[in-house]
Amino acid sequence: MGLRVLQLSDCHLSAKPDKPYRGISADANFKATWKAARDWNPDLVLLTGDLSEDASDASYERLASWLPAEPPCLALPGNHDDPATMARWFPRGPWDGPLAYESGEWLIVMLNSALPGRVEGGFSAQDIEALRDVISASTCPHVLLALHHQPIPVEAPWIDRYPLSDPQPFLDLVDSEARIRCVIWGHIHHHFARERNGVLFLGSPSTAANAVANAERFEADPAGPACRTLVLEDSGSVTYGQVFAATL
Ligand SMILES: [Fe+2]
Repeated sequence: MGLRVLQLSDCHLSAKPDKPYRGISADANFKATWKAARDWNPDLVLLTGDLSEDASDASYERLASWLPAEPPCLALPGNHDDPATMARWFPRGPWDGPLAYESGEWLIVMLNSALPGRVEGGFSAQDIEALRDVISASTCPHVLLALHHQPIPVEAPWIDRYPLSDPQPFLDLVDSEARIRCVIWGHIHHHFARERNGVLFLGSPSTAANAVANAERFEADPAGPACRTLVLEDSGSVTYGQVFAATL
């Protein structure tokens, strides 16, 4: 049992389906990843940014067309996305402040850490207060937060140059709210897991192209595209894994 959550991230689709991304087909790799992941039977799909490479309507339209109406799909933007464009195709997102989604014992909050024209991310003081208000308004005993940028270093210099900048107010909130069990993000194009003060911090792989861990520069991981699985138990415990793409 438990809530089965699938995290799809960093799809990097372009307006033209045949435009290569890091030398591969982002379209083919997403389809291969989704083909494998849908058999995992998720209850909920989370899209955690850089869905598009060029923020085009055409890229979002294709992605939206590949995903079924059920299970529900929540989305948040990354540095490559345009929130206003993305919102037309993925209406359930943090377009007017944090998006709260409750299921059973869990509150899931989707956050917008993207800053216009910047690769790194950030939250304003108002963003932090809005997040605090959303959590306070819920009576769920367990909370998961999702954003695009890594709030802690992931020991990969190529992407640690572009983190959530000034993360301390966000980390202070995580430390002060005892119901937060898990923080997830995309952006880093590899699997990362760390427990911090009793909270599970998880970076997701990309459905397009991944890097080997601890890379100075982006170096393709031969394991290929992948996505994150999470099982959120009623007890508050979290089990995580990865699904790798079906045959490309
Ligand atoms: Fe990103």
